[in-house]
Amino acid sequence: MSLIEISDLSKTYQTRTGDVTALSHVDLGIAEGEFVSILGPSGCGKTTLLRILAGLEGHTAGTATIADVPIGAPRGEAGMVFQKATLLPWLNILDNVLLPLSLRRRVTGADRTHARTLLTMVGLEDFTTKHPHELSGGMQQRAAICRALVHDPAVLLMDEPFGALDAMTRDALNVEVNRIWRETGTTAVLITHSISEAVFLAERVVVMTPRPGRIAEIIDIPFGKTRTPELLGDPEFAALTAHIRRHFEVNA
Ligand SMILES: Nc1ncnc2c1ncn2[C@@H]1O[C@H](COP(=O)(O)OP(=O)(O)OP(=O)(O)O)[C@@H](O)[C@H]1O
Ligand SMILES: [Mg+2]
Repeated sequence: MSLIEISDLSKTYQTRTGDVTALSHVDLGIAEGEFVSILGPSGCGKTTLLRILAGLEGHTAGTATIADVPIGAPRGEAGMVFQKATLLPWLNILDNVLLPLSLRRRVTGADRTHARTLLTMVGLEDFTTKHPHELSGGMQQRAAICRALVHDPAVLLMDEPFGALDAMTRDALNVEVNRIWRETGTTAVLITHSISEAVFLAERVVVMTPRPGRIAEIIDIPFGKTRTPELLGDPEFAALTAHIRRHFEVNA
């Protein structure tokens, strides 16, 4: 049984200069608690797909459901992490993390405790009263992940969350994302341009074709739930990334 069910999904944007088909006949089921990475060339509709799952964008044909309910307006099933941390500069880190709750209702003491627990999980317990400009890019992105998780969403959607970070910070955050995913049991969908990041984190990697995006291949990643940096040197890891890279050589 899939938590997220995407069936024959297509999306065409109507623009002043004509129609742009971003997604074409996408079928994908994602199980509860699963981690799926999506790879594809620029402009193939990855962000479009994630925005549809978040309820931020409509679709043209087909269906998309979470827990059998068609995805309409944003209803809080999903927490989203964007490429830029998009924290509000005038709020401290704790209040930034609490924002998805404070926009909806009064924040309680239990909410603050929960937000602090999340911040501790990503090593930011000493930065709760700091403002975003006092944190590095990687620390801001960690806070953004906490913000996406604060309302216990059924689904964590990440759109190239670490694209702007250096490789070392990115590797460290990937280990953290793996731990957060295991500890929260959330269903996670990650969009990335990094084949190695996709394989390192996911249980399945979805490779998309150039626009209009279709699914080219779905690859099972057989490494169990706990991922550690040693995996990057594993020959099977290298074989999987090499296999995936061939998709992009053919399309280049
Ligand atoms: N709001 C919009 N209006 C019109 N066209 C759009 C809109 N958003 C995206 N598109 C078009 O849809 C296609 C897919 O865009 P999308 O942002 O989903 O790609 P992507 O796979 O996320 O690319 P990237 O890897 O560069 O982030 C592109 O051709 C883009 O120009
Ligand atoms: Mg994108």
